[in-house]
Amino acid sequence: MLVFVPPHPLIKHWVSVLRNEQTPCAIFKSAMSELGRLLIYEASRDWLPTITGEIETPVAVASVEFIDPREPVLVIPILRAGLALAEQASSVLPATKTYHLGLRRDEETLEPSIYLNNLPDKIPEGTRVLVVDPMLATGGTIVAAIDLLIERGVTSKQIKVVSAVAAPPALQKLNNKFPGLHVYTGIIDPEVNEKGFIVPGLGDAGDRSFA
Ligand code: PRP
Repeated sequence: MLVFVPPHPLIKHWVSVLRNEQTPCAIFKSAMSELGRLLIYEASRDWLPTITGEIETPVAVASVEFIDPREPVLVIPILRAGLALAEQASSVLPATKTYHLGLRRDEETLEPSIYLNNLPDKIPEGTRVLVVDPMLATGGTIVAAIDLLIERGVTSKQIKVVSAVAAPPALQKLNNKFPGLHVYTGIIDPEVNEKGFIVPGLGDAGDRSFA
């Protein structure tokens, strides 16, 4: 598995805004959306299929390269907090299809349960899949989400995960289970506390985006 923390000052900036407990809900949500835009841009580097051809500019014929619209990236936001991170996916990526997954962690056991699954029964071979969840804490949620994709014919090499903050337990679990995966995150924090919060983290991203 490969984990990328793109070294960009704008990424650091938006992570810092998200971390601040004084950041109000509306700003938190727009900061998450900006961070999503930057991380999705980084994750899509060298990943998107292109088609080439020639077009006429007002001056001359030019060789051109476009993103192939026949092979959309499947964007999978994990509700709720993934919605804000995925908000810009369709403006960054010219061809996308979005399928929502709703997973909620039990506050006591920290086990995830699925309350919404909009995935198609079968995902065509070779499809590129972008899973978007702001926090990878214990890793239970992201592993459950990727398991649903694998059941539908996707291999871990086809999947990129975008998150705002990742913690070692989640990265360890993902590495053990899905070695071909690529993870893009704004920052890696050192630990997860007994309540399942990333430390120092940014709190409960779902509540801070939508409460
Ligand atoms: C949070 C977060 C992740 C998950 C991470 O969601 O947005 O989806 O927990 O935790 P894990 O790695 O330990 O599984 P939550 O269940 O709080 O739902 P929400 O987005 O609706 O607030």
